Amino acid sequence: MARVRTIAIDGPAGAGKSTIGALVAERLGYLFLDTGAMYRAVALAALRRAVDPDDAETLARLARQVLISIGPPTVRDGRAYTVLLDGADVTWAIRAADVDRVVSQIARVPAVRSAMVEQQRALASRGRIVMVGRDIGTVVLPDAERKIFLTASAAERARRREEELAARGEHRPRPELLAEILRRDELDSHRVVAPLRAADDAMIVETDGMSVREALGRVLSLVQRPVAT
Ligand code: CDP
Repeated sequence: MARVRTIAIDGPAGAGKSTIGALVAERLGYLFLDTGAMYRAVALAALRRAVDPDDAETLARLARQVLISIGPPTVRDGRAYTVLLDGADVTWAIRAADVDRVVSQIARVPAVRSAMVEQQRALASRGRIVMVGRDIGTVVLPDAERKIFLTASAAERARRREEELAARGEHRPRPELLAEILRRDELDSHRVVAPLRAADDAMIVETDGMSVREALGRVLSLVQRPVAT
């Protein structure tokens, strides 16, 4: 019996994938990759260059040109990782409300996705990784040994997002966050390429009413089951 090497965690906005994924990776000593941060970095680059979010051709070029790197935290300010965009620290900039607004539109462009997926697979090929996103179990790593689909009701996810922002001193009204989450769920679930959905062999973890500790315990119990060899 061997330990699982690749763990895919997917789910909708605000389900706690990043928090739980980072903790699982830390606990197992695995690399952690939050693929949402990559799409957010492309979205930020597009906003800064005033690229129209519907201009697929320019977005595709941009996604191939920019250098995105995600690594261990370089500043102790509560971040789980540091995101560099062409060498500049954009870890917090990619969490801004204007990025929330355009990211799903940009992430639905097929050529943007293929540029990101290529980098994601290259990282996974080094082994021992927890990768989180929307299409990891279905498209990026269909052979991942363990697939988790983390979810919660939209109301619960909006409440968590409000708390997460408040912890960083940002205040956005919950109804606005809920509308934003529903809009992103809709775009992410209905796009043509790699829509958000649970892989057929994913284990679904419904986290309504669970604390982070409880959700972590549940996910760890699923991923720590050895794989049959
Ligand atoms: O943290 P939150 O759940 O708000 O979102 P995220 O994981 O940072 O992802 C931001 C957006 O990137 C999503 O709403 C998707 O549109 C896109 N995304 C994607 O298309 N595929 C992925 N593997 C990850 C994110």
